[in-house]
Amino acid sequence: MISGDIGAARRADAYRQFAGLPKAHLHVHLEAAMREATLRQWCMEDGIEVPPLVDYVDFTAFLDAYGLLIGLLRTPARVERLLDEVIADAAAQGVVALEFASIPEKSVAFGSAEEALEFILPAAADAGRRHGVWTGAIVSIDRGAGPDHALDAARLAARFADRGVVAVGLVADERDSPVAAAAKAFAIARDAGLGVVPHAGELAGPDEVRSAIELGVDRIQHGVRAVEDPRVLDLLAERGICLDVCPTSNVVLDVYPSLEAHPLPDLLEVGVRCSLGADDPLLFGVDVVNEYVHAHERMGVSAAVLVEVARASIESSFAPAEVKRDALARLVEV
Ligand code: ADE
Ligand code: ZN
Repeated sequence: MISGDIGAARRADAYRQFAGLPKAHLHVHLEAAMREATLRQWCMEDGIEVPPLVDYVDFTAFLDAYGLLIGLLRTPARVERLLDEVIADAAAQGVVALEFASIPEKSVAFGSAEEALEFILPAAADAGRRHGVWTGAIVSIDRGAGPDHALDAARLAARFADRGVVAVGLVADERDSPVAAAAKAFAIARDAGLGVVPHAGELAGPDEVRSAIELGVDRIQHGVRAVEDPRVLDLLAERGICLDVCPTSNVVLDVYPSLEAHPLPDLLEVGVRCSLGADDPLLFGVDVVNEYVHAHERMGVSAAVLVEVARASIESSFAPAEVKRDALARLVEV
């Protein structure tokens, strides 16, 4: 066997090892979890060029690529196929609980955001039953869309609180709008019994993570730049707030220069709970299992600590108690 083959065989072994770990995938944007073959087929059918993947000149170029994926979802049949494929892929990755984020207001296949959720939630639950994955939806508030949108999105999420929506999120460019601007929307979500899981501490620094903590959030998507302020790290560790960390996303979007320079090991070392996620799998060329492999092979996180990461993901999810209990019982056997 030549050395390249040995490397490939070792990587395949590592992939199998971490795919076998029961885990929750808590940070993934639905449209950007589209399979590449599906993207190519739909672009061909619609007569549009396949967008460049994994290489973006800046965050705006990345958001443009994301927007193109949303635009491809122009019929309910495509949305249904997307959900089925994303949830089937999750099952193959050892995901027992999948919390997928999307912005229903941007859905072009339906007449309204309400109609979008009325379709998406039962379709996701149905695919979840077929593939053996519990699913919950996170309604994302788009930072770029203004305060009225934030309140509308939170009210919309609240109306679907007992039908599959589990939380509200906050996405797009942090530098445009601080997390505190969404305080009122978060309060609406919380009053409806929903979780609050904003993106913070990705493009902006640790003060945004502190603000999120002060707003009483349940988890933080990314949050990695907390590492720049030990007091913020202490707060995260004391309160057990889980960061949904996506290393490859942070490298592709230039938050860190390489996986080797990523602060995941430091966060874990000081006792901050972390889950691993792929964020936008198609746009970053990774799935959640790849991120476990990266953490192990390129960031020096031990397999035993990665079992604890999987445990944190399950415990920090909004999945029902029985789903968590079964997954945690299986984790002990790994
Ligand atoms: N939407 C999708 N991916 C995102 C990211 N990494 N940061 C902010 N918003 C996003
Ligand atoms: Zn994200």
